[in-house]
Amino acid sequence: MPGLPLFWRGNEGEAIMYNPQIHKLINACLQKKDIDIAGKDNLFYTRMVANTTAIYYLYNQLYQHHPHGKPLFIVLIDTIIDAYIKRTTAQKELDNDKEIQGNWFLSNDIAGMSLYVDRFCGDLKSMPEKLAYFKKLGVNFLHLMPVMQSPEGESDGGYAVSDFRKVDERFGTMADLKKLQQQMKKEKMYLMIDIVLNHTSHYHEWAKKAKAGDKKYQDYFYMFPDRNLPDQYDAAMPEIFPESSPGNFTWNEECRQWVMTVFHSYQWDLNYTNPAVFVDMLDNIFFYANLGVDILRIDAPAFVWKQVGTTCQNLPLAHTLLRLIKQCVQVATPGMALLGEAIVAPKEIMKYFGTGLYTSRECDFAYNATHMALQWDVLATGDTKVMLAAQHEILQKPFGTTWITYTRCHDDIGLGYDDYMIQHAGYNPYHHRKFIKDYYSGVAEGSPAIGALFSVNPKTQDARISGSLASLCGLEKALNENNTPAIELSIKKILLMQAHSFFIGGVPMLFYGDECGYTNDYSYLQDPGKSYDNRWMHRPIISWDKNNRIDEAGTIEATIFSGTQKLIALRKQLPMVADHKNLTWLSPFNVHVAGYLRTLDDAKLYCVFNFGKETAYLSYAAFKQHGPTAHELYDHWNDKTYTVGFDNEHLILEPYGFCLLEQR
Ligand code: GLC
Repeated sequence: MPGLPLFWRGNEGEAIMYNPQIHKLINACLQKKDIDIAGKDNLFYTRMVANTTAIYYLYNQLYQHHPHGKPLFIVLIDTIIDAYIKRTTAQKELDNDKEIQGNWFLSNDIAGMSLYVDRFCGDLKSMPEKLAYFKKLGVNFLHLMPVMQSPEGESDGGYAVSDFRKVDERFGTMADLKKLQQQMKKEKMYLMIDIVLNHTSHYHEWAKKAKAGDKKYQDYFYMFPDRNLPDQYDAAMPEIFPESSPGNFTWNEECRQWVMTVFHSYQWDLNYTNPAVFVDMLDNIFFYANLGVDILRIDAPAFVWKQVGTTCQNLPLAHTLLRLIKQCVQVATPGMALLGEAIVAPKEIMKYFGTGLYTSRECDFAYNATHMALQWDVLATGDTKVMLAAQHEILQKPFGTTWITYTRCHDDIGLGYDDYMIQHAGYNPYHHRKFIKDYYSGVAEGSPAIGALFSVNPKTQDARISGSLASLCGLEKALNENNTPAIELSIKKILLMQAHSFFIGGVPMLFYGDECGYTNDYSYLQDPGKSYDNRWMHRPIISWDKNNRIDEAGTIEATIFSGTQKLIALRKQLPMVADHKNLTWLSPFNVHVAGYLRTLDDAKLYCVFNFGKETAYLSYAAFKQHGPTAHELYDHWNDKTYTVGFDNEHLILEPYGFCLLEQR
């Protein structure tokens, strides 16, 4: 084993250049393993030689001064090699196929759904028989909400993991998960699961050892004997769950230490300043990759790096850490794409795609959380100005990366767009946000929504919003009042919201239940492990009697399901919807109408959405500003052809109606 090169002295630029010392190190590590560098493993070897200098550079940014930094770098290289060795031949072939396709995840052919296995169909064993349901809807990508072991009652919906490699018995076994994955592969479906990177359950074996006084594992967490440092941290750190888990530290009586717990008190933050934590978690990431995961959802990446005196969110070294993960995955398991679940300010979200030399080389996906929240904003106000004011920021997304677009997910809706965007639209940020929160919590007069405020911070009055897509769009209230026109209107809103997010670019991710119009589920209030967290109101328990009504024409379920199905089918049929950074916003000829153009070569699709409660008139001038004017527009949604008229003539959109107009 040659001596490790001196710790990095160069600049970022040198990190992507060939480095003979690193090459020697790789060769020495590979000699111990059964790798055919000149033959079948040559591609891997090439990736390794090409990327390890960058890996070394990034690693040193994090661990240069750590006493175990050097020896653990060798362990890191071994971990990468072992992950590759454990990858099956079929997985390696798939890696190569995906590489040939290029950025396979930009395709308009992918449509996803996120679901809790137990609430959807009981357990993993029952999932394969549900694949036909997804196929019918057009969904070919599943995000299984966390299925690894997590203590009931202190689970945070599975985001408090006590064993990263054991499926929780509530869901089944690892064999069931593998079987499902294989069945999905046969059906050409993609799989996403989470790596809960930021924290573990306090019942994870590392935490148990730390509680018992094991110094090695105490270094896996942030633990302090007194309030000195916790107070300093707390002074600058916001609170995530101020109602149920105020503060960022929890006293543990067993080891008599304050433990950092940014989320719930039972979720212990991992200490990534310790390279052993990084290497162990990277190994878990590879374990998931080798289960056949296509997209790995990195939970809460904004929080992984902490520095006293800062908010401990979105720190530069959090990005370094993600880049390091990306480079390692790129070498060993390149077919697995990464989704960074950063639900932060618009400018900050963008950085998770990478910046500078690492542009497009950090996370492949991020959630378009800004856009999701803006859609709710427009639906409440009927005014597109705030949404438009945010677009220059959202359009910064680099080529080769993409969004997960969505209207609802398992989490709350945070109105995280910037104050200046609201001001730009002519509103006062405080009053505007208050109106949106009142509207969706059903407090505002005339609001059709039934939702609730989530995590109200008594100090700042900040709050987010809980509630299902259907309830926030007015279906629950309309059903309670047995009001048929209101039911119809709420369904139009549901489909408007879905359409707007399906066509804007990125992979649409449905939340289970929304395809059938599930309203809020209040059963969580009876469960002490859930009742403190009102996000459970929009995480329904599926009744298959209800879902089976998708086949009974005229039912709410059938109307919403078939509308959603049609939207997905249209997406797949229209290649300009693939995410090639080919989105242009239309000039706002009508403040109630959001309009964007998707293009591919000469093909054009104008998507226009009326968020207003009145009929909207959109000047035909809107369709004449981007290249040669069309004579005809074919509306794929309403199956209707329009002749493009004079500028003083109008396309007419009914309240909450929309058109998907292809230029002919
Ligand atoms: C992510 C999850 C959320 C969870 C949090 C803590 O934001 O989406 O549900 O509470 O991480 O793990």
